[in-house]
Amino acid sequence: MQNIHDNNYDLLIIGTGAAGLSLALSVADHAKVLLISKANLSSGSTQYAQGGVSAVLDVQDSFESHIEDTLNAGAGLCDRDIVNFTVTQGPERIRWLIEQGVPFTQRVSKSGKRDYHLTREGGHSHRRVIHADDATGAAIGTALTAKVRAHPNIHLLERHIAIDLITGDKLGLKSRRCWGIYLLDRDQGQIKAIGARFVALASGGAGKVYLYTSNPDVATGDGIAMALRAGCRVANMEFIQFHPTCLYHPAAKSFLISEAVRGEGGKLLLPDGSRFMDRFDPRAELAPRDIVARAIDHEMKRTGSESLFLDISHQAPEFITAHFPNIYARCLELGYDMTTEPIPIVPAAHYTCGGVVTDREGQTDIEGLFAIGEVSFTGLHGANRMASNSLLECLVFAHSAGEKILRELRQVPAPPDLPPWDESRVTDSDEEVVVSHNWEELRRFMWDYVGIVRTSKRLQRAKHRVDLLRAEIEEYYSNFRVTNDLIELRNLVEVSDLIIRSALLRKESRGLHYTLDYPYQAPLAHNTFLMPD
Ligand code: FAD
Ligand code: SIN
Repeated sequence: MQNIHDNNYDLLIIGTGAAGLSLALSVADHAKVLLISKANLSSGSTQYAQGGVSAVLDVQDSFESHIEDTLNAGAGLCDRDIVNFTVTQGPERIRWLIEQGVPFTQRVSKSGKRDYHLTREGGHSHRRVIHADDATGAAIGTALTAKVRAHPNIHLLERHIAIDLITGDKLGLKSRRCWGIYLLDRDQGQIKAIGARFVALASGGAGKVYLYTSNPDVATGDGIAMALRAGCRVANMEFIQFHPTCLYHPAAKSFLISEAVRGEGGKLLLPDGSRFMDRFDPRAELAPRDIVARAIDHEMKRTGSESLFLDISHQAPEFITAHFPNIYARCLELGYDMTTEPIPIVPAAHYTCGGVVTDREGQTDIEGLFAIGEVSFTGLHGANRMASNSLLECLVFAHSAGEKILRELRQVPAPPDLPPWDESRVTDSDEEVVVSHNWEELRRFMWDYVGIVRTSKRLQRAKHRVDLLRAEIEEYYSNFRVTNDLIELRNLVEVSDLIIRSALLRKESRGLHYTLDYPYQAPLAHNTFLMPD
């Protein structure tokens, strides 16, 4: 990393997934950008995305159909205007990705025409998921990262974690505008204040709140917690999506088995080899995720099984290895040959549908602060995100935010001088074990009490525990020098609190929020907005 002038950026972006990379590229010809990742550039969920990106690309398909499917999956809570806005921009955003060099998979059709292959996933009534084999996110990340690295206006900082946002009110100014962030250099242990005309959170979701998750280690909800502390509204945090099919294997750390496996004919089986999904939904294996994950959870509890099974071995081996080369190879490495046998699967926390409230340009409640991608709540997903709509959301909102930033750039003055981080009252921690112990405890009780099926009593139990942990961590935070783990734990506790409070407020079952105390959907759909204390 060269030439960091601490207050000299037009746009500072926290996060290097699909959202952050796309936003950087959308403005960099006209603006100076600092792009930050708390780990390496490919540390986010984007790198692990398998299935693909949904967009209307087939002549048989239509915007109306993609919109209807999204609204149906969202169980009455999607914002129709935002769904319309996102879906209609899909084809253009895919063309942009192709221009950036993303090698989407092509196949020759029966008529001899070579075209992009579209796969199917739950909730979609057409084939509309464009993909790069079964490693779409890695292909997108690789192409965009190469462009970002080559751009002279984009500076990159890896292994730097944003701690908090700096807003005008904290600086004694009249406006609450966001002017920068405090940032910890994880290798040097130093904290810097970095200023910019605009700041964007592109920091991804919060799957690490749960013991079992498909998400990578960086998914600790930092952006959501930072935005809340700065004064932004956060919405719909009760809607945590559990992916139905992660490989059940002690060494696999929740390796995802893409929904596209079911899209290409994979069947879910009980331990006795029988199918069960048609008892839960006429769409069977291709019902939206909330329904499939709940059905699996139900059947695991009913049969006392540690896992259920996914079987695609009726397809030809060449078909399976051509469509799913990475999943096939990983399963084989772990002792399962999916061309000849069913593979064991369990659900795991996968996607944070709620987040920082934004408008259609990614603008949050705080002037100068944007939130793009999984960190945000745009109104697209409602009570349940439809498969492959999230990468689409990253691309669409990065583009619209980029346009707004460029429109306003010349009217915004350079940021004011920012005060240094105050370390005068802290010492080095003498009890790191507190952090690791609390981290384990939090993730376990969130899994046990705030999982796929909830009750008010379990939520109250979780709330009680989170309150205790929060007090302990805040005390620790005030007395000791911050570390990466402490920053993440503080954010995880904040986000857990948001999930529990939102879940307690929802007195109905809708989409991903299912509670035995209120098993029915209320007649009126409403979002859950939470404000800072
Ligand atoms: P991410 O890609 O998660 O990137 C977050 C970035 O923020 C990282 O660089 C991280 O280091 C950085 N960061 C976080 N906090 C801080 C901080 N405090 N300071 C500095 N940096 C920070 N969606 C689809 O549409 N299609 C799919 O096929 C698909 N498959 C998936 C498969 C898996 C296994 C997973 C986990 C998710 C999948 N999803 C899929 C969801 C989708 O991948 C994510 O929603 C999307 O990639 C999120 O992108 P993002 O840019 O918002 O964040
Ligand atoms: C998958 O490939 O099943 C993940 C798709 C998604 O989360 O959108």
